[in-house]
Amino acid sequence: MSEKAKVIVDGKEFELPVITGTENEKAIDIGKLRAESGGVITLDYGFKNTGSTTSSITFLDGEKGILRYRGYPIEQLAEKSEFLEVAYLLIYGDLPDKETYEKFKREISDSYFVHEDIKKIMDGFPSNAHPMGVLSSVATSLTAFYPASLDPNRSPEGVNLSIKRILAKMPTFAAWTYRRKLGRPIIYPDTAMDYCSNFLNMMFKMPGGRYEVDPVVANALDKLLILHADHEQNCSTSTVRITGSSRGSLYTSISAGINALWGPLHGGANMAVIEMLENIRMDGGDTKKWMDKAKDKDDPFRLMGFGHRVYKNFDPRARIIKKAADEVLEALGVQDPVLDIAKGLEEVALSDDYFVERKLYPNVDFYSGIIYRAMQIPVDMFTVIFALGRLPGWIAQWKEMRENGEPIGRPRQIYVGHTNRTYQPINER
Ligand code: ACO
Repeated sequence: MSEKAKVIVDGKEFELPVITGTENEKAIDIGKLRAESGGVITLDYGFKNTGSTTSSITFLDGEKGILRYRGYPIEQLAEKSEFLEVAYLLIYGDLPDKETYEKFKREISDSYFVHEDIKKIMDGFPSNAHPMGVLSSVATSLTAFYPASLDPNRSPEGVNLSIKRILAKMPTFAAWTYRRKLGRPIIYPDTAMDYCSNFLNMMFKMPGGRYEVDPVVANALDKLLILHADHEQNCSTSTVRITGSSRGSLYTSISAGINALWGPLHGGANMAVIEMLENIRMDGGDTKKWMDKAKDKDDPFRLMGFGHRVYKNFDPRARIIKKAADEVLEALGVQDPVLDIAKGLEEVALSDDYFVERKLYPNVDFYSGIIYRAMQIPVDMFTVIFALGRLPGWIAQWKEMRENGEPIGRPRQIYVGHTNRTYQPINER
């Protein structure tokens, strides 16, 4: 017999079905609660206890520190796979065979180039514009260049074309945003280069100059992108799904996701971490003083890169990134004083009652900024790199939502404002 939950409201009892996922996660399905109870809904600020969908893309157990894409542990993918292979896995559900993967990579590299008019859109922004704002605008502008993508009833081939286009062109947009900011000429994509090398080449090559992509840097970037590729129903992914649920196009939904990612409590944390570590360094490196600030409820300061809505254990991505940070800095011969500050903060936090009781551990962003810095990537591009990494996850989630035919996302509310009042003309107020 299937499991049921009982809810009693105003003395009336309602039976609600309990659904169980493949990893034995349970949810009370409240789909009929409002209709059957005569108007009662659930209230859950920040959706801390609310599942918005069923999904077969990513499994995350925050208590045990487990993260798997389509069943494959993140540790194995980070060690053995490549970003585009992981992108294929997330979007299409299984690892590709050799021939399929080669074809997929070729289709992506053939689409690296962007319409020349996109440069004009970019030129419309002040050169000091934040790259995330430019990126989200340019992502939306793809609907103008490919108007067929606006049609919600497109064929699977049409959707696949949009998927490959945005995967291929985002690194070009990202690198060009950076070049414009520095007043440097843009570098066109090189279709002979792999995904990460092509991006680094567009970021750092000077026309007429020599620039050899360092394989250590390209591999580290590839690994970072894998680690960011999906994270189930986080803030930006939920934004992508909810935007797409109105039958919004892939491009506009991704643009919405980029904007949601930008904030410092989400993807923007990687910038905030480096700024925080730099402040601590310039302040003399007294980690205890900053830990005390983080614990002081009257002080708005938070230890950036610490804590997570879902992980109440070590974020498995943070473990991999911490190790990668050591390896990359050593391979590049870079010494970054903020790495020691970060390690010191982590050590103190992991044994501090405040952090232990609240189960606050370093998250994916605590060490990623240190690797980006070693790669010479400027701070305001950190969240852009996160967006490049998260792109396959957003695409996979958008596609799943559309294929499942999910209804438009539209939460309810409990109104707590004025009850009925009578309008007063302005001179009588
Ligand atoms: N520093 C100090 N205290 C913290 C921190 C922190 N970084 N994070 C949480 N807390 C405290 C809160 O003050 C709260 O304490 P209380 O119970 O005494 O009131 C408790 O821990 C629970 O925190 P919430 O804010 O309720 O947890 P929530 O799940 O809403 O927030 C979040 C999660 C936003 C990630 C939070 O931990 C945070 O702000 N961290 C810093 C920003 C950051 O690193 N964000 C990146 C997250 S990863 C990603 O999005 C890619």
